[in-house]
Amino acid sequence: MTSGTLERSAAYWNKQAASEERWSVPVDAAAIARAREGDWSIILTPDKTVPRGWFPADLSDTRLLALAGSGGQQAPVLAAAGAQVTVFDLSEGQLSKDRQVADRDGLDLRIEQGDMADLSRFEDASFDLVVNPCSVCFVAEVEPVWREVSRVLRPGGRLMTGFINPLFFLFDHDTPGADRLQAQFPLPYDSNSPELRDRALALGVDEFSHSLDTLIGGQMRAGLHLIDMYEDNWPGADLAIDALTPLYIATLAQKPL
Ligand SMILES: C[S@@+](CC[C@H](N)C(=O)[O-])C[C@H]1O[C@@H](n2cnc3c(N)ncnc32)[C@H](O)[C@@H]1O
Repeated sequence: MTSGTLERSAAYWNKQAASEERWSVPVDAAAIARAREGDWSIILTPDKTVPRGWFPADLSDTRLLALAGSGGQQAPVLAAAGAQVTVFDLSEGQLSKDRQVADRDGLDLRIEQGDMADLSRFEDASFDLVVNPCSVCFVAEVEPVWREVSRVLRPGGRLMTGFINPLFFLFDHDTPGADRLQAQFPLPYDSNSPELRDRALALGVDEFSHSLDTLIGGQMRAGLHLIDMYEDNWPGADLAIDALTPLYIATLAQKPL
């Protein structure tokens, strides 16, 4: 990935965190107290909660990597539920939200800053579970991420990830006045392509649709076995397409024993 992409992504997410946007609002102390009592849920996509059956019955002793998963939401809840959580993210602003919740509520969180395509600081088979909320649209290539996840998972370990259906990127959801149901962009959408550079610079962040081949097939080629999936909508977002079809996907995959 170009360093420009990483720099823009970090700056964009630092700004999101500073303005407490949707993905950067930390959970409150009551949510942490409930999680400590076993009453918790998380999301990987905008709305539906992850089925509880995707997690081990007991999270204690689960070595969990919240990958590109900061913002003070999933990681502290999972730590309060008993997991040994490492939260890893590119954005210091986003990570500061997790630090804030950990300090406020006395949680033990390991906080690491970096690019999700490079998990080299973690040893092979060092996690039981990788939880990756919607984020791979910010990396130019997704298969290196799946390969790294597969490497750091122990045999029998699981990856749960949320991502955007590539069809979302056919449309212009951002330009005021655009016909938002008219297909505008060829796929795969790639912010690094010359015709999309100006748009990416205006949005302040690079985005990549990827293909279902790399998003789902790529997990299998990385050595993971698909176990389950679901689709989701984003109710409340100003997205014309959302009334017509779900465009978010979550998958659960396992590294064979
Ligand atoms: C939509 S947010 C996901 C976290 C959020 N708490 C949620 O519920 O979805 C996307 C996250 O991806 C992170 N991110 C973007 N590019 C990244 C990269 N190359 N490596 C690691 N994290 C990245 C952002 O900093 C941001 O925290």
